[in-house]
Amino acid sequence: MALLTIRDTQETISDPQKMSEFLETFGIWFRRFEGSDNLTEDATEDEVLAAYKEPIDELMTSGNYVTADVINITPDIKNLDELLKKFSKEHWHSENEVRFIVGGRGLFHINPPDGPIFSIEMVKGDMINVPKGTHHWFDLCEERTVRAIRLFEDPAGWTPHYTDSNAEAIHLPLCFGPSFIPPEK
Ligand code: LAC
Ligand code: NI
Repeated sequence: MALLTIRDTQETISDPQKMSEFLETFGIWFRRFEGSDNLTEDATEDEVLAAYKEPIDELMTSGNYVTADVINITPDIKNLDELLKKFSKEHWHSENEVRFIVGGRGLFHINPPDGPIFSIEMVKGDMINVPKGTHHWFDLCEERTVRAIRLFEDPAGWTPHYTDSNAEAIHLPLCFGPSFIPPEK
């Protein structure tokens, strides 16, 4: 189950319905899928996409998405730190960012123009649409593992535009143990 934390007040929301309502005020769409997908850890990209064909098709037709893929991040990936640096600095995109977590965990931070900075720890079954232009950043958690379906309106358009606000430097990820040393950004 996802966990939303307002960073200033440390207020949390874990009820999916309340979370959707809170996120909606920032134009963010959140949906929770319960139940088993019968996927094993070594399921192929095609198997993952097939297991979630229905919600993917539904999104594809309701939005302007043209492709879906599966990103698979594990601690043993070469240049993982380099890869993570691309996401862990505050940025925005010129297209919507749809992410559906099918394994592991990921932590989004959202920095809305008219509201407090908050984080959403996403786990298996959590789907989010971060609308284009939204200032956000993304970190892994302690186990540095995430598997997610991504939807793209234009794969070529998926480019991070960095804000250089440095907001991420004072709002470090919360889903690490006490021994966490923040990576150099
Ligand atoms: C992205 C997320 C992880 O840009 O922010 O893919
Ligand atoms: Ni992004």
